Order: sequence, then C-alpha cells, then structure tokens
Amino acid sequence: MTKRIAVFASGNGSNFQVIAEQFPVAFVFSDHRDAYVLERAKSLGVPSYAFELKEFDNKAAYEAAIVDLLEEHEIDLVVLAGYMKIVASTLLAKYEGRMINIHPAYLPEFPGAHGIEDAWAAGVAESGVTIHWVDSGVDSGQIIRQERVPRLEGDTIDSFEERIHAMEYRLYPEVLESLGVKRHQE
Ligand code: GAR
Repeated sequence: MTKRIAVFASGNGSNFQVIAEQFPVAFVFSDHRDAYVLERAKSLGVPSYAFELKEFDNKAAYEAAIVDLLEEHEIDLVVLAGYMKIVASTLLAKYEGRMINIHPAYLPEFPGAHGIEDAWAAGVAESGVTIHWVDSGVDSGQIIRQERVPRLEGDTIDSFEERIHAMEYRLYPEVLESLGVKRHQE
C-alpha cells in the first residue's frame, strides 16, 4: 500500500507542482486563500483547501481544523513545501514522525524564512537543500537528506536561487520515494 500524502504550501507552490506531477497527492492545503499554489492544484486536478490562522480564535483551533482534514483523508505523511508557519503542538501531537519539510539551505546553516537570501548575504561558497522531519523548533528536526549547492562565479542571487530550487525539485521526489510513497501508475 502506498502512503497517502498531503502537501502544505503558503505561496507559489513550485515544489508542490513537481511532487504532484510525479506522485498522487490526496490534497493540498494553503494557509493563504489567494496563494498561487491553489491555481496549480486546480490545473493539476488536485483537491485543495485553504483557510487562514486569523479566521480562528487561536493557533490550536486553526491546527485542529487541519488535523480534521488530515484524518478525514487518512493521510500517512504530511509534506511541507514552502509552508511558512511554525508547526505548533496541536498538529505535532498527531503528526510528529509523519511530517517532513524542505528547507533551501544546508541545515543547521541558515534556518528560518530566508534561507537563500541569508546564505547569499553571508557570501558563502556553497549552501544547499535539506529535507528533515518536523519537530517543534524552526527547521531543527532530524535530517533525512541534504545536498550542497555551490555558489558559482558570476552568480546573481537569482541564478543561485534557481540552482537551489532545481536541487529541491530533484531531492523531494527522491526522498518521498525512499519513504515509501509510490509514483503515479504508468
Ligand atoms: C522553497 O524554496 C522552500 O524550500 C522554502 O520556500 C520555498 C517555497 O517555494 N521553504 C522555507 O524556506 C521553509 N523554511 P515553492 O512555494 O515555489 O515550492
């Protein structure tokens, strides 16, 4: 039996698109009702849900609504791909050990919301991409896979960023497969 996955994304959703083109995705969730990822989901025929933290009394209530969705869809693995909120106790209590995240830097270097810009600003010779289990910290959970991405001579932040994203698009599918998620049937 394949693992059923849900993908969470806050904005653009390019990682979601790469994943959905290769694997069945039960649904995508966004914490922004106007996120571009929702357009991508529609084009790809993937069910989507969106609601915002500010629509709830507190984060626990917001996360309880997310847990309901995950349980309703019998999700085995939650795949964070540009989900820009810290996962709090309500969601973690149910899904710790079944939730992974991708980060555009070589953790523990440059955690947080600006991994690419921070590495660029620090002038490092190389950064990278990390996929890790989600725990209660910021980009701090156990690392599953990470790869280096060099900063090349003549790079601009845009070309550097593109190379990091290309590595993300390669690594996330490989990691999903290694965790027992089956690709679309031919
Ligand atoms: C990705 O680069 C992802 O690694 C990053 O947000 C981007 C989302 O792009 N996540 C983080 O920085 C988490 N700390 P996408 O919406 O086009 O997939």
